[in-house]
Amino acid sequence: MVVVYIEDIARHVGQQVTVRGWLRHRRSSGKIHFLVVRDGTGELQAVVSKGSVGEEQFAQSAVLTQESSLMLTGTVRQEARALGGYELDVTGLQVVQIAEPFPIQPKEHGVGFLMEHRHLWLRSSRQHAILRIRHEIIRACRNFFDERGFVLVDAPIFTPNACEGTTTLFQTDYFDEKAYLTQSGQLYSEATAAAFGKVYCFGPTFRAEKSKTRRHLMEFWMVEPEVAFAELSDMMDLAEEFLSFIVQRVLETRKADLAVLERDTSKLERVVAPFPRVLYEEAVSLLQKKGNPIQIGDDFGGDEETLLSNEFDRPAIVHRYPSAIKAFYMQNDPVRPELALCMDVLAPEGYGEIIGGGQRIHEYDKLMARIREHKLPEQAFRWYLDLRRYGSVPHAGFGMGIERVVAWICGLDHVRETIPFPRMLYKLYP
Ligand code: 4AD
Ligand code: MG
Repeated sequence: MVVVYIEDIARHVGQQVTVRGWLRHRRSSGKIHFLVVRDGTGELQAVVSKGSVGEEQFAQSAVLTQESSLMLTGTVRQEARALGGYELDVTGLQVVQIAEPFPIQPKEHGVGFLMEHRHLWLRSSRQHAILRIRHEIIRACRNFFDERGFVLVDAPIFTPNACEGTTTLFQTDYFDEKAYLTQSGQLYSEATAAAFGKVYCFGPTFRAEKSKTRRHLMEFWMVEPEVAFAELSDMMDLAEEFLSFIVQRVLETRKADLAVLERDTSKLERVVAPFPRVLYEEAVSLLQKKGNPIQIGDDFGGDEETLLSNEFDRPAIVHRYPSAIKAFYMQNDPVRPELALCMDVLAPEGYGEIIGGGQRIHEYDKLMARIREHKLPEQAFRWYLDLRRYGSVPHAGFGMGIERVVAWICGLDHVRETIPFPRMLYKLYP
């Protein structure tokens, strides 16, 4: 007797196999019970009759509740009318646990209720599809950089300094010192890029963002490439190639999951290079034409991002924002020093920013002046300044938030479903 996963069932037609899983639902017609079982890889209908399993097991299968765990042995049969095209004629049934009444029923539940039951909600076919796509996106990110000779060098989670502004730091005790949960691995990637040439880091990042929006999580995953001797335009090219690669991969490998989500894939098929490149100033005029009150010098908020990203049929690269509204480490445009050599990539269909990055200041004096201007603690940045003392070179990189990309590719209206256990404003359970 062979134990098989449902995704492999086609290879076992006519054979006696065992499937282990959970009961999705049961339907009975007198002498036969139809059990739909899921095992994480797929769903399969199993047919239980008194004649083939005997009185006792038949009675057991009659009281199985939704999500009861069980092991079924039987013969695999091709069945065009059945879900997935196969059925199992059960000859033996072993109940592992009879589930208590399952809180999540096949009916409408409020989001609050579902989030409270996130640990159980993950079993639904929709959540399953989203998280399979998330996995594929992460795999594609790694493949992309690995195939191009980038070295994975991860950054620490506990850090002594801020990277993306001091207002969104999560602070914690680190023995006798204070530490912060990292907001971005970038500063460390700048060190490792000087050691390995081209690197990426990929890990959880944290922001105490007091904003309750469909785009913000307190804990999210970021993939961050950093390249020595690279400039802003190199990052635009890289981001463009990277995003096209990811989207094409998901279209190739996760068609069925996209169908579960009823995603309009024709929109994703358009995600091919070149992407429009728009100066910040052009973006501001575009917004003003749409009736948005934004002025030169203002940063974009959620509304502006949504408006802008609805203007294009593929991701758009907005570049050269005013230095004054950007992070301390950003290099200035030599021609227009009031502008930063930075970019944001906005996903289409109203999704907004998914990538932020650009060129870094590589001159010691200039960086020191910035650190002082931003009133950052010089002591904590000694190591970062060292990078500008020993073989400093122009370098650039970017960070892409995984959850926002998952939300966009899956066509979701909120990032809360894109990560197994989202951490949101004042929400830490489960
Ligand atoms: O634009 P951000 O803040 O850029 C950085 O952190 C740079 N240090 C990255 C780099 O150059 N290596 O964040 C980068 C991306 C955003 O574009 C967004 O996709 C995601 O991280 N992000 C968030 N995702 C979910 N929830 C939040 N609160 C996020 N904040 C940023
Ligand atoms: Mg940003």
